[in-house]
Amino acid sequence: MSLLLIAKNRDFSSLKNALLEKDPNLDVEIWPRFDNKERVHFAVCWNHPEKVLGNYPNLRAVSSLGAGVNHLLNDESLPEEVPICRLITDSLQDQMAEYVLNAIVNYRLNMNDYFENKQKGIWDQKSALPKKYAPVGIMGLGEMGKSVATLLVQHGYQVSAWSRSKKDINGVQSYAKDELNEFLSETTILINLLPLTDETEGILDLDLFKKLKQPGYLINVGRGDHLVEEDLIYAFDMNYLEGACLDVFEEEPLPKNHSFWNRKQIMVTPHIAAITPAKEAAEVLVENYKRAMSGMELLFEVDRERGY
Ligand code: NAP
Ligand code: GLV
Repeated sequence: MSLLLIAKNRDFSSLKNALLEKDPNLDVEIWPRFDNKERVHFAVCWNHPEKVLGNYPNLRAVSSLGAGVNHLLNDESLPEEVPICRLITDSLQDQMAEYVLNAIVNYRLNMNDYFENKQKGIWDQKSALPKKYAPVGIMGLGEMGKSVATLLVQHGYQVSAWSRSKKDINGVQSYAKDELNEFLSETTILINLLPLTDETEGILDLDLFKKLKQPGYLINVGRGDHLVEEDLIYAFDMNYLEGACLDVFEEEPLPKNHSFWNRKQIMVTPHIAAITPAKEAAEVLVENYKRAMSGMELLFEVDRERGY
């Protein structure tokens, strides 16, 4: 029985070592070198080639190598009865919370302007945006959203959040799905941590930006397809937004000729907000491999019906 690691252009050597350190008896193989398709019982995928999963007739479960699972749910070659799970670890949540806090502080303190001015030798003091004028709104209060909300509350931010169902988190004003407009009207700094589903694709559009407490600031750490990219530029032109920090994009890597690179208002990072370290990934993957082999319920199993 093999555990197969599948991704395009990825060096899996440290993950393979970490998996074998956790369980030396595992048979860990790496796509596409391994062609004994019947032996594959568990696959771990990230950005995998379309329809590749249909090649493995004996799959008992498939895990994402991250928190997001849209790449797996979109793969029509994966039989419906094969369960899908994802990787959630403490350090993934910590990294996401720190990334978002850092993006907010950079925005409030004009750090990106100072970075640019330093390169030109310009001394120009600007006033910072006080926290009380920077209410934060988080779309999606799941594994990542909760961790971000908790850190921001600890740092004295006014935090609200929007999710399908209302939540009870200390210091967080929670809004349910039908309360989107109220949520937006209370928000200046908008953080997207929704899963990518049919309902949420393209949700970050001009109509939504218009409803923010203006001028707003967008931090997109969900998925690139949540954002209607041209609407972001319109939102700057209309002063609905004054800046954005983007970690995810419709096309990744962000093409060299993409207009976002040259936009002063946009901070770009290459999809690094939260990445699970190999050792921690191995802990969850080995546990889920064993659970799948013995027919037990998986950790962090995805509800296919719901889409996340
Ligand atoms: P999650 O645990 O599945 O949580 C999803 C949250 O979104 C839940 O609170 C859910 O509401 C809410 N939600 C789902 N559909 C909704 C809808 N139609 N309307 C309103 N709320 C809705 O997700 P997660 O693990 O926190 O991940 C969040 C996002 O971060 C994903 O897009 C993932 O791909 C991305 N991510 C990015 C990075 C990176 O490095 N950039 C790293 C990790 C994750 P309920 O609670 O009511 O169900
Ligand atoms: C990263 O984007 C993840 O989904 O973990």
